[in-house]
Amino acid sequence: MVQQTLKTPEELLRFQLRTAMTMENDSLAALGELAKAARSAEIKKLFRHHADETKDQIANLREVFRLLELKEATAPSPSTKGISRQAGSLIERTAPKLHDQVVLSCALGNEHYEISAYQSLIIAVSGMQAPQAVALLQDNLDQETHTSEELYATLQRIA
Ligand SMILES: [Fe+2]
Repeated sequence: MVQQTLKTPEELLRFQLRTAMTMENDSLAALGELAKAARSAEIKKLFRHHADETKDQIANLREVFRLLELKEATAPSPSTKGISRQAGSLIERTAPKLHDQVVLSCALGNEHYEISAYQSLIIAVSGMQAPQAVALLQDNLDQETHTSEELYATLQRIA
């Protein structure tokens, strides 16, 4: 397949938004897997709560496409697929008593990736006279940041 070169900031943004959509879909799937692999009820609950937030984040991204008058679509996100694969293989090769530690650290990695994706999107959309779109992306970024802090604090507590 011939890949089209992205030539303008707008084309780059459209592609990154599509990648973010895949990233959130991957996160939703990963959170389900991590909740299953977690041993403590508290950590399972934390993942389920963030899975609910992730559904809202997907809705926010849909709205951003609409506000920017872009066709909603997805683009490949090999990074999030890789993070999930790495989590799966680490869970497989660790003893069950370490699984809470493993799932928290893998989720933390995913959150940091998501934070970087939203930071770049916010910079790109900030110059577009679309304050509502920026606000929705900021809401997603704030949720990811809050979740990463929760994961970090929980990881520190159990390690
Ligand atoms: Fe997310």
